[in-house]
Amino acid sequence: MTAPQLLYTQLAEWWPLISAPEEYEEEAEVYGAAIVDAAQLPVRAVLELGSGGGSNASHLKRRFEMTLVDLAPAMLDVSRRLNPECRHLEGDMRSVRVGSRFDAVFIHDAVDYMVTENDLAATMRTAAVHCRPGGALVVAPDYVRETFRPGVETGGNDAGDRGARYLDWTWDPDPADTTYRSELVLVLRDGEDVRVVLDRHTCGLFPEATWLAAIEDAGFAARAIAVELAPGHRGVLFVGTRRADV
Ligand SMILES: C[S@@+](CC[C@H](N)C(=O)[O-])C[C@H]1O[C@@H](n2cnc3c(N)ncnc32)[C@H](O)[C@@H]1O
Repeated sequence: MTAPQLLYTQLAEWWPLISAPEEYEEEAEVYGAAIVDAAQLPVRAVLELGSGGGSNASHLKRRFEMTLVDLAPAMLDVSRRLNPECRHLEGDMRSVRVGSRFDAVFIHDAVDYMVTENDLAATMRTAAVHCRPGGALVVAPDYVRETFRPGVETGGNDAGDRGARYLDWTWDPDPADTTYRSELVLVLRDGEDVRVVLDRHTCGLFPEATWLAAIEDAGFAARAIAVELAPGHRGVLFVGTRRADV
């Protein structure tokens, strides 16, 4: 288990300025379509594991009834402000048990924090436990081993007296293991006060075959779909349909 990231704890209130909900509209459309496409039943109730600030959910909720689970209470607070009509629960995607079943389970980039094959297996089990037979699973990691390239991404926004900018430098210190690093430099402006924070994130990196095996083993018929997450950033979306026989 790696240390909790500052962005999701002490700095969570800055999340909407680092990664604004409006920026998620297009990709949420892709995830919503993949959910409906993979499901063999009408989809209404969707469980999102690692829902963070609720940016995706703010779009998906127009189409589905969203239940949102995250490990970080401060991120749940951010999401509650954006999505007051959604049910929010604190929990770890590897072990949480909500006590009901859903038509679909969605896991976006929070799955990047699964850094071992055991983490992946436990998370996919959580998804299977909460998914009705014929229901859908959509998992959208930032990278798989085959598509990972070291790189830099920048962004950020202003709101009122405050502004935030980030530089996210991804690199892989040891290509033989199952992780890469994201060195996140945050520049936070409050009025005329500006501070710089370095927040180091360790994320998981697995071959496509490892993902598919984890999803299949948990009880889904799985496939991988190539997607373009951003210009020049090729990614893979994992889609599953819950089998009835497990
Ligand atoms: C990049 S944010 C997700 C943002 C989200 N895609 C959105 O639409 O706002 C990553 C989130 O993963 C959560 N997270 C990390 N490890 C987790 C775990 N084991 N279980 C549940 N959530 C986790 C963090 O607390 C954080 O809120």
